Amino acid sequence: MILITGGAGYIGSHVNKLLNNSGYETIVLDNLSKGHKSAVKWGELVNADLSDRDKVREIFQDNDIEAVMHFAAFSSVAESVEEPEKYFKNNYENTLNLLRIMKEFRVRKFIFSSTAALYGIPRSIPINEDSELKPINPYGESKLMVENLLKDESDFGGLKYVSLRYFNAAGADLDCEIGEDHNPESHLIPLVLDAAIGRRDSISIFGDDYSTPDGTCIRDYIHVNDLADAHLKALQYLEEPFNDSNIFNLGNGNGFSVREVVDTCKKVTGIDFDVKIEGRRPGDPDILIADSKKAEEILGWKPKITELEDIVESAWNWHKKIHV
Ligand code: UFG
Repeated sequence: MILITGGAGYIGSHVNKLLNNSGYETIVLDNLSKGHKSAVKWGELVNADLSDRDKVREIFQDNDIEAVMHFAAFSSVAESVEEPEKYFKNNYENTLNLLRIMKEFRVRKFIFSSTAALYGIPRSIPINEDSELKPINPYGESKLMVENLLKDESDFGGLKYVSLRYFNAAGADLDCEIGEDHNPESHLIPLVLDAAIGRRDSISIFGDDYSTPDGTCIRDYIHVNDLADAHLKALQYLEEPFNDSNIFNLGNGNGFSVREVVDTCKKVTGIDFDVKIEGRRPGDPDILIADSKKAEEILGWKPKITELEDIVESAWNWHKKIHV
């Protein structure tokens, strides 16, 4: 049995589907503060918060858990700047609770949702796992604290972990059973699709004076199914007794500018909408592109849905399903 915390959320629900389709049994722990009950179509859902240690212990008591995949976390950079304490509590302290309970029950395999936000403003592109870790917001800081803890637990406490540093997760399940549905939404692609579908009047581009060819920020958009596949491979990696704890970047290695994303959304949807240029959003680096060679070499992982048009098309199919 694999325990998936945050399995009712965007990335966790795609991993839950893939694991079930690959022959694993799963149990999802989610407090449904951000996730959706309807996204848990596979395995069992336990509505619980990681701060409730007794309830979490019960899950370990009642199930033969062999590994934990930990998605439950707050993930809005902007909110983390306004309420840092909330991020340290949920993202760090609750992970500490989970790891303590895992230790009590001798569950040693752990897969962690980490982030490109650990790198802050990178010195060089593409970014590999050895790049300096210098988060520039409490969200990234809270995830780095967990990574530091994991390293110590692995070096001295018998834990075996894989930390997966996601770049910009995007797209949706190709069968349209699950997809991205944040409330409020802050991510570029769903916001642009909101403009296309008429849920907003326009889309704002935050800054067109960056050091990039068209002046808008460049990001590495990685399809959520490719992320899910990396989790499956990370689990298989941890199942091999001689493999050590490890850290991998997950990106598709191609950078797309905000303008390119907006234009691709117009092309895929066939709908024109207003685009406004606004000032920069604080804390946005010019360019984030992953070097994911390590995941390719060690996990045998390679992203399959790498064309921006295909990523946007899957997001659009989902968007139409939930908003029309
Ligand atoms: N953007 C706009 N207009 C919008 C929304 C976003 O121009 O209405 C721009 C942003 O300024 C940025 C790009 O689109 O340049 C992508 O923004 P997102 O908010 O979609 O994603 P981020 O790159 O800010 O954040 C992602 C993850 C975070 C993670 C971060 C790492 O969502 O969890 O990458 O840098 F921390």
